[in-house]
Amino acid sequence: MSLPQGQEKARVVRSMFDRVAGRYDLVNRVMTFGLDVGWRRRAVRELHLPGGALVADLACGTGDLSTELLDAGYRAIGVDFSHGMLANATTRAPLVQADILRLPLADTSTDGITCGFALRNVTDLRTLVDELARVIRPGGRIALLETAEPEGPVMRLGHRVYFGRVVPLIGGALSDRAAYSYLPRSMAYLPPPAELVAMLREGGFGDAEREALTGGVAQLLVGTRR
Ligand SMILES: C[S@@+](CC[C@H](N)C(=O)[O-])C[C@H]1O[C@@H](n2cnc3c(N)ncnc32)[C@H](O)[C@@H]1O
Repeated sequence: MSLPQGQEKARVVRSMFDRVAGRYDLVNRVMTFGLDVGWRRRAVRELHLPGGALVADLACGTGDLSTELLDAGYRAIGVDFSHGMLANATTRAPLVQADILRLPLADTSTDGITCGFALRNVTDLRTLVDELARVIRPGGRIALLETAEPEGPVMRLGHRVYFGRVVPLIGGALSDRAAYSYLPRSMAYLPPPAELVAMLREGGFGDAEREALTGGVAQLLVGTRR
């Protein structure tokens, strides 16, 4: 089955997250064995910004990363286009319903940006990178989390089976089978690691780097705005 593109993709993604919002956190914890909590904490640690810095958490969903930002002493603002996800958010951070490809934020208005597991979901990654570069101040930091495919053949095979077969079963039992079958398929939207890093470097984050997390099943992209 082909994956949706353009405005059709945005519509599908948004309504899918509206649908799964109520049990999104539960399914996350179960399918990652709770590892997602550590990944978010790690992303926040990699910001290395002064206390009180303003960090926009893009595609914040139910706000787990926004809460980690507050707990780390930052000011946080969450942005997401899914009303269902925002309505189910448990964070104390202020939340805004908006498209992260057209942020309602002024140029150079933020010190940092986080984005958890949404690079795959946007309709145009370059537009997102342009928005990151626009709203972040020079010297500001980004920390972007995303799922990934491990490089080693054994881990890769295990990951394919788990992600492609087991995750849709877990998602189906706890939430919505169609949504959690889309999840492994949506990996196809992601550019290879080197391309992702190059896109960030060319887009204004000259020192961008990628780190594989937990054997390569997740990745963290960090960088500093020139
Ligand atoms: C996999 S969830 C991640 C939620 C949260 N960041 C986390 O770490 O759990 C992806 C989120 O991206 C949001 N999203 C996808 N495309 C978006 C866009 N163009 N603008 C705003 N939000 C978007 C979805 O609504 C969804 O809440």
